[in-house]
Amino acid sequence: MRAGRSFPLLSSEVKGPAPPGVQERASDKLWFACLGDGIYRSGMRTLVVGIGALGGTIGTRALSAGLPVWLATRSAGSAERLRSSGLRVSGVGGEATASSIPVAALGDYAAETFELILLATKAQDALDCAPFLSRLLVAGGTLLCIQNGGVSQIVAERLGGDLVLGGLSNLGATMVEPGIYEQRNAGHLLIGEVAGGGSDRAARIAAFLSGAIGTKATANLPGAVWSKLLLNCSVTTLGALAGQPMRRYMTVAAGPPVFRKTYEETLSVALASGTRPERMIVDPLPPGWPGASAPAGEHAGWIAEITATYGDLKPSMLQDFERGRQTEIDFINGYVAQLGQKLGVPVPMNAAITAMAHRIEQGQLRPHPDRLDDLLRTVA
Ligand SMILES: NC(=O)c1ccc[n+]([C@@H]2O[C@H](COP(=O)([O-])OP(=O)(O)OC[C@H]3O[C@@H](n4cnc5c(N)ncnc54)[C@H](OP(=O)(O)O)[C@@H]3O)[C@@H](O)[C@H]2O)c1
Repeated sequence: MRAGRSFPLLSSEVKGPAPPGVQERASDKLWFACLGDGIYRSGMRTLVVGIGALGGTIGTRALSAGLPVWLATRSAGSAERLRSSGLRVSGVGGEATASSIPVAALGDYAAETFELILLATKAQDALDCAPFLSRLLVAGGTLLCIQNGGVSQIVAERLGGDLVLGGLSNLGATMVEPGIYEQRNAGHLLIGEVAGGGSDRAARIAAFLSGAIGTKATANLPGAVWSKLLLNCSVTTLGALAGQPMRRYMTVAAGPPVFRKTYEETLSVALASGTRPERMIVDPLPPGWPGASAPAGEHAGWIAEITATYGDLKPSMLQDFERGRQTEIDFINGYVAQLGQKLGVPVPMNAAITAMAHRIEQGQLRPHPDRLDDLLRTVA
């Protein structure tokens, strides 16, 4: 099957039944059956893996736009539910629906091949299924990882950078229930080479995915990933441990010093790894960096900028705590702590945060602003 033809040779847009002779694979039949007499667009034969908040939003918009996309759930039962419920996205970007869906359990795609696999599971699941997915790629195919934190880097180290493209999502999405998704902002996917640098394949994949959802290619993906990681490690994780968003936890005495220590430790690891963090909304380098030479007002102004953008968001990790779900802490602060130790950068705060998050996951602690005092005492 690997040597087989990739996605059927469709002209750029064909209306009507599928061209004769192209239904060679079970999944092709499934796709054509689903689209009926709809509009088929040519492009990369793509598998979206993980039909949760992000994968469901992207998958629905892709199918609704007629892109050659298949969906993979964890289990046959989940696939069956989506087939009968259909898919709907609402919110920013407008409504999109798909009523009949080429979806199956991931294992059912074992004999299929794809040019692009968009991996939209949580971090640990992404690491677990990446080796299987690498066997579903045609020669020259790409596995695109869009998890937060160090996932694409870890997967690229394990499978080889030729197979893997990294991504991050500035797009916010939630799953109301399986099959029903809400896009929360006008963000986009940012994709690029894990090791940095521009590439034709990143540009091609960005152009293809843009048919479904805002997607841009960057020549400095590591810089973008670290800029997001800086905020995930500080704004988001600390908010989860404190049980309240940044604007509130920065009003308790331990908030500002714990934030500062976490942010600066993370930034030191980023810079030691050779990354140049990208400016996103806020400058990733605090005023006066390195050191504390900047006037207090300048630093407060920089914090105020971060707070204005992110200070009221409820951290998704806090939702994970509340629902008793495993968090992605090992790929956020845990990743920074591990890399820092490898690079010889002291990372006591990120290590303490990671350990504390695990204790909350295990029910030994609960999120509370006092956790910030605990951290300050541990790392003093
Ligand atoms: N949602 C956002 O707005 C957002 C924004 C930025 C970044 N991200 C990142 O994007 C990633 C996905 O987030 P999310 O919010 O979409 O998570 P999510 O809602 O939990 O969705 C993950 C989906 O993956 C499925 N899955 C797990 N293992 C699988 C497997 N082996 N095969 C097929 N499907 C599998 C899960 O199915 P089960 O339910 O059966 O486990 C679930 O439907 C995370 O790393 C997150 O940090 C999300």
